[in-house]
Amino acid sequence: MASKRKLEFNGKPVPEGEMIRYQDGRPVPVKRPIVPFIEGDGIGPEIWAATRKIVDAACQAAYGDERGIVWYEIFAGGKGEKLFSDPLPKGSLKAIKHFGVAIKGPLTTPTGGGLRSINVRLRQLLDLYQCVRPVRYFDGVPSVVHNPQDLDVVIFRENTEDVYAGIEYRAGSRAAGRVARALRKEGVKLRSRTGIGIKVISRAASRRLVRAAIQFALENNRKVVTLVHKGNIQKFTEGAFLGWGMELAQEEFASVTITEDQLWSDYGGVIPDGKILINSRIADAMFYEVLVKPKTLSVIATTNLNGDYLSDACAAQVGGLGMAPGANIGDGCAIFEATHGTAGDIAGKNMANPGSLLLSAVMLLRHIGFGEAADRVVGALEKTIVDRTVTGDLARGMADSQELGTDAFGEAVVANL
Ligand code: NAI
Repeated sequence: MASKRKLEFNGKPVPEGEMIRYQDGRPVPVKRPIVPFIEGDGIGPEIWAATRKIVDAACQAAYGDERGIVWYEIFAGGKGEKLFSDPLPKGSLKAIKHFGVAIKGPLTTPTGGGLRSINVRLRQLLDLYQCVRPVRYFDGVPSVVHNPQDLDVVIFRENTEDVYAGIEYRAGSRAAGRVARALRKEGVKLRSRTGIGIKVISRAASRRLVRAAIQFALENNRKVVTLVHKGNIQKFTEGAFLGWGMELAQEEFASVTITEDQLWSDYGGVIPDGKILINSRIADAMFYEVLVKPKTLSVIATTNLNGDYLSDACAAQVGGLGMAPGANIGDGCAIFEATHGTAGDIAGKNMANPGSLLLSAVMLLRHIGFGEAADRVVGALEKTIVDRTVTGDLARGMADSQELGTDAFGEAVVANL
């Protein structure tokens, strides 16, 4: 039933459409979901325009007039500042909470004292505890390794804790002095003028992240979940993450998972049908393994800082950040976003590659049950790259390629849908 008063955020009425509802933390598909979007700063408006066109065309191709996304603009970053004197207006945050989903272009992170990244604020305020980064190779994309196609991994990075929790004390400050005195009581002596940062890892946050990674592996037919940690050095944080992750796997997924010991003692090194392997690697060994044995990896679950480094390293291996999508997901809310920044050097020049935002939109489409449209976008993107019609960042490393501007690249993908 239509409500009497028109729903609005930031004084902007919401268009006709349906709200995505969540059941047991998962969205229930609807035909005309309302999806808020933030264009973003720098190259944001250009890559968003191309992405939106492609996604709309893919929905049209897949479902005709039966289903489609109802886009609703919300504001943040430069546009939020300009219109509402706030880089993260309350109405935008409310809209994301209300609709349980959003997609965003990159936002400029203000540098300098006291100003926290809008991206980090969004993740923390909405408790988006999983940072999900699928990394795969697209045929033809220039890469620095010999067999980039061997890496096909989905990284689940814990998004709320670790050294990102923001518990830091400036060297020489009163607070740092108090913390130093408390530590002295524990037998820890610090040098004078020491900056202090505190790493926090909890059982609850570790378990929910590992649970999400295992559930994803089960639902997407991925056979291995690797817990990546630095527990040999940081025993009560990184080591605890590993312990809690293994404990969770045992408690909640015992019938469908095996450990590395069982793999060899009971199954001769072959993962049996219907089971997934839960193993672990120390973080530094993992950086070696992604390069040298990429085929052994499938899903990675890890702590915040390890995940930050590892996702960019993996993205570099398959051809760079321009093609690496990302999502920040919580229970009942998710934000999909380009993983690169605002690229001020090429902003407004119609040169940017919309690939990262487009592939994030693919994740969004799958999240809200628009899988056929998602498959079409991926197919069309693959074909456009194989045809060697690409934006400058890719064209530079591709022989015989045709360099296209952002909008022409978008049109080429639409033509290939
Ligand atoms: P950046 O990712 O914006 O740029 C690094 C280099 O990659 C530049 O040469 C740029 O031209 C190129 N590049 C990035 N995206 C591209 C694309 N789609 N197509 C073609 N080339 C592309 O990183 P930078 O310069 O460190 O950061 C700029 C701003 O973006 C900063 O304010 C930073 O805080 C912010 N940022 C925002 C993020 C977000 O909103 N999620 C993530 C990373 C940075």
